[in-house]
Amino acid sequence: MNCCIQTVQGDITKVDDVEAIVNAANNSLLGGGGVDGAIHRAAGPELLAECRTLHGCDTGEAKITKAYKLPCKYVIHTVGPIWYGGNDGEPELLANAYRNSLQCGVDHGIKTIAFSAISTGVYGYPIDKAAVVAVDTVKEFIREHPGKIELVRFVLFSADVLAAYEKVIGERTIL
Ligand code: APR
Repeated sequence: MNCCIQTVQGDITKVDDVEAIVNAANNSLLGGGGVDGAIHRAAGPELLAECRTLHGCDTGEAKITKAYKLPCKYVIHTVGPIWYGGNDGEPELLANAYRNSLQCGVDHGIKTIAFSAISTGVYGYPIDKAAVVAVDTVKEFIREHPGKIELVRFVLFSADVLAAYEKVIGERTIL
């Protein structure tokens, strides 16, 4: 079974044809602005109630909850690195966030997953650099776990982020 990697511009809270969406959370897992705020608003208060039981999440790690009022089944919460210039382990931590989100999905039998652009907003990760880490990490994971993932979709909120991801994916063959 081949795996499809897609990019699309849109609001990840509206995605209704994947099993899980990936939230760009913070270490508290207690909500925030950006995509985190949008996901919590759309899911309703039960999401925060479940997040409280998880006792936070380290940067680069991922934890899963139900999706409540969202149209998907699960939310995978991951925490990307804050950008401090790129010499503070940011690329490795961002790769860990994507890898551990996919691993979390596989551990729960999830085969279709949508990612927001982790760390590219408030956390300031340069979009072009983040897109390369995101696409390369996802492709490496898919190669290392044949048959486990059927669809990965990057759901980009703005045209500039979409362009950055399309530039990377366009330069690479898709599995
Ligand atoms: N759907 C998809 N993507 C979205 C949406 C949405 N509804 N809203 C925002 N985004 C995009 C942003 O445009 C950005 O490209 O998500 C990407 C990640 O930006 P942030 O949400 O700011 O996340 P991040 O940079 O990882 O910073 C995380 O921000 O919201 C807080 O609680 C969060 O403290 C944490 C920090």
